[in-house]
Amino acid sequence: MIVLKNNQFIEREYATIDMEDRGHQFGDGVYEVIRVYEGRYFLLQDHLERLQYSLNETGINFNISEENVHDHLHQLIDLNDVEDGAIYIQITRGIAPRSHPFPKDTSPMVFAYPIKATSPTEAQSKGIKVILEEDFRWLRCDIKSLNLLGNVMTKQKAVEAGATEAIFYRDENHVTEGSSTNVFIVKDGTIYTHPADNYILNGINRRYLLYLAKELNIPYKETIFSINDLKQADEVFISSTTSEMLPVVNVDGEPVANNKPGPISKQLLETFFKYKDLNQIPTH
Ligand code: PDD
Repeated sequence: MIVLKNNQFIEREYATIDMEDRGHQFGDGVYEVIRVYEGRYFLLQDHLERLQYSLNETGINFNISEENVHDHLHQLIDLNDVEDGAIYIQITRGIAPRSHPFPKDTSPMVFAYPIKATSPTEAQSKGIKVILEEDFRWLRCDIKSLNLLGNVMTKQKAVEAGATEAIFYRDENHVTEGSSTNVFIVKDGTIYTHPADNYILNGINRRYLLYLAKELNIPYKETIFSINDLKQADEVFISSTTSEMLPVVNVDGEPVANNKPGPISKQLLETFFKYKDLNQIPTH
């Protein structure tokens, strides 16, 4: 495997991280996972813009366009012959003696490399089980930060319960997102999903599905919904870069949406690959 480390392409065995990298010690860094279909990036521009947003919000002094990240990422998939997969990229504040304040004169550290990703076709056609868990994470979930302890602890609970994902709620009237996905419900033909604020990551596939909904003339509302709304929904689905879009058929052991993927979920899934060479979600 060839890894991008700052501006260099190196073999994986040389791609080591310093023990005082602030990403390693404080989770002081940000990241993206970008899907590759047929050897081409999907929605690369949107991912790079969100990465720049996360860098700006955390005060990591790094300019993606000045550092040629775009070109390096293209070279990275060529060097690794990535056809169907994903690229993980993380940028940390850099290496400095361990101390909480931002260090002066430290250069950010970039690592990027290919990771496996395949469309979960069986789960997409059958639907998945999820569990509900209290959202005990911080209040800046809009930043795609390396601090994922709350997310990984909660995903593990889902795995132990025999479910695919855990859906977070702040209180019974406020469902937020999944441990690594965004959540949608359908009621009377309208799609509902949490507004893009500090309680959720504004998922790129979340935005892509809303774009598809618009193309398909399916109405949607970005508004907060309750646990009860979720359980009483006509359809439920989740989205992320790696899972694409997954219908939910069971919540906390109880069937939802008649225990099968509903018509709007199916329509979105059927349309999902229509624009798979899109670099940026059109806004209109
Ligand atoms: N997870 N919410 C959270 C908390 C996430 O970690 C993710 C993505 C999403 C969906 O965002 P997107 O559609 O841009 O992938 C929502 C990535 C894939 C991960 O950490 O592996």
